[in-house]
Amino acid sequence: MPVITCIDDLKRLHKRRVPKMFYDYAESGSYTEQTFRENTSDFAQIRLRQKVAVDMSGRSTAGTMAGHDVAMPVALAPVGLCGMQHADGEIKAARAAEKFGVPFTLSTMSICSIEDVAAHTTKPFWFQLYVMQDEDFVDAIIERAKRAKCSALVLTLDLQILGQRHKDLKNGLSAPPKLTLPVMLDLATKWRWGLGMLGTKRRFFGNIVGHAKGVGDTASLMSWTSEQFDPKLDWGKIARIRDQWGGKFIIKGILDEEDARIAADFGADAIIVSNHGGRQLDGALSAIRMLPSIVRAVGDKVEVHMDSGIRSGQDVLKALALGAKGTYIGRSYIYGLGAMGEAGVTRALEVIRKELDTTMALCGERDVKALGRHNLLIPEGFEGHWA
Ligand SMILES: Cc1cc2nc3c(=O)[nH]c(=O)nc-3n(C[C@H](O)[C@H](O)[C@H](O)COP(=O)(O)O)c2cc1C
Repeated sequence: MPVITCIDDLKRLHKRRVPKMFYDYAESGSYTEQTFRENTSDFAQIRLRQKVAVDMSGRSTAGTMAGHDVAMPVALAPVGLCGMQHADGEIKAARAAEKFGVPFTLSTMSICSIEDVAAHTTKPFWFQLYVMQDEDFVDAIIERAKRAKCSALVLTLDLQILGQRHKDLKNGLSAPPKLTLPVMLDLATKWRWGLGMLGTKRRFFGNIVGHAKGVGDTASLMSWTSEQFDPKLDWGKIARIRDQWGGKFIIKGILDEEDARIAADFGADAIIVSNHGGRQLDGALSAIRMLPSIVRAVGDKVEVHMDSGIRSGQDVLKALALGAKGTYIGRSYIYGLGAMGEAGVTRALEVIRKELDTTMALCGERDVKALGRHNLLIPEGFEGHWA
């Protein structure tokens, strides 16, 4: 087993073990990738305030997210095609999360279906919904998530049209991959991945195949998914979905104060400040830069969560100190999943918890819930005056 000391180690292994098409799918942003890059570089601008001679014994990273107890306020973000990063990827990631005591969010665009993940886990997970034009499909998938006892619905609002990622087009991204000559040459060096895939039947979008009208083969599946995102999604439709769901409701993809206020008045249990990991509106500000003003805008009306750019426990601490009550990791756990399956996701979570715990102690804090602005050194003008 290689020595893994940080998320970057997992990323290197992921690149070595997973077909280029799927590594690139994870490791890219839209268009110029400015927002993708700034999500991480803006975290690095914030510094931490060192405190000494304080009792740092009996520390705790435990908390709650949207009313759920968590071992640390770090959930696994919804990520499409996990089952292409590693055979049965969603089941592996969900198991790692449940053993660790953090929420796992299953994407609509997963390879393993809701029912399949439910059958292979023992605790409820969260389900992320993309609103599609096919209303029967949306109604049915909400009911399926209820039947599978999913304990929160995460509604993603920032992907009703796809931001372009150049590499995906150039690589001919598809699930499963088409066996062209370059793909076969690449697969020849990714034998672990290939063996895993030969050993599983889960190679298509499990929530869609057999559930959406007119989706029979791979070609129809690819065109269905790219054409189905509903461009007419508005707050009226969102209200209907919230009412149909009736349980914990989390709105994902908020990056604007005005939208945050609307979502807060809307009765959501939480909002996620996010730019989809830099995969949608290239040129948008980083999520960590937008977080403070959104926290101020909504006050106590709604719990604020954030994602986009978290690669360490220090990043988690910074987000919490800026007012987030919870965070999500996307790529940080995908690197682990691609590198080593379930063990890799567990390792990613362990790395982040250890970093969070140590950093908390060196900042003179014992409880993750006590973190605040006083723990940070923020350069003047960090939030900026954008008009
Ligand atoms: C490969 C990949 C696939 C994703 N698929 C989805 C998805 O299906 N649904 C969704 O709401 N967000 C999706 N996201 C966005 C993540 O939920 C999350 O917002 C993002 O990864 C956070 O940024 P980070 O990767 O820098 O942590 C995806 C992100 C990545 C990297």
